[in-house]
Amino acid sequence: MSFTIAIDGPAASGKGTIARAIARRFGFHHLDTGLLYRAVGARGGDPVAAARALTGADLTRDDLRSNEAGQAASRVAAIPEVRDALTDFQRRFAAQEPGAVLDGRDIGTVICPDADLKLYVIASDEVRAQRRAAEIGADPAATLAALRERDARDSARSAAPLRPAADAVILDTTEMSVTDAVTRAIAEVRARL
Ligand code: C5P
Repeated sequence: MSFTIAIDGPAASGKGTIARAIARRFGFHHLDTGLLYRAVGARGGDPVAAARALTGADLTRDDLRSNEAGQAASRVAAIPEVRDALTDFQRRFAAQEPGAVLDGRDIGTVICPDADLKLYVIASDEVRAQRRAAEIGADPAATLAALRERDARDSARSAAPLRPAADAVILDTTEMSVTDAVTRAIAEVRARL
């Protein structure tokens, strides 16, 4: 039986870093599901057709990390048919042996409602903007505005809105170092293995 870990939360909360660290520690597969939506947004044209035609090559484009790609992602992510087109791939990824870590917005609520562990990672808006701006070399104020706009859209949409699953463990990383956050997350995994 494979072990599935769902990590959700708003933009730049630290979920990607935690997901990668867990995957490395336990030898699990890792999928950054935001990349799927970023790639659909970056393809342009009809987003539903783009989601249906998505291939691995689309996920390696260099321009997917920018604030603009994030905004485009959150617009196409509100379209139910886009989400539907990406669901099977994510569920098959999650079922891989010996385990899989998926990070995103709706992993614990929609994609993997039976995940063995659900983490919901949060941090203050300011801390998230600082971290993301440093990571992508963008202006912190513009990044803060972009994150807030994206979180508002992701939370307000009717298709798979951003929210913690009822059984998610909430991890607030505002005042945590990366090492502390990863240690806490790893302890949650160990407690369920
Ligand atoms: O995680 P990341 O910031 O790369 O995600 C980009 C956008 O993709 C999010 O703002 C959200 O709109 C969308 N997304 C989603 N569901 C996921 C992952 C990302 O709707 N599971």
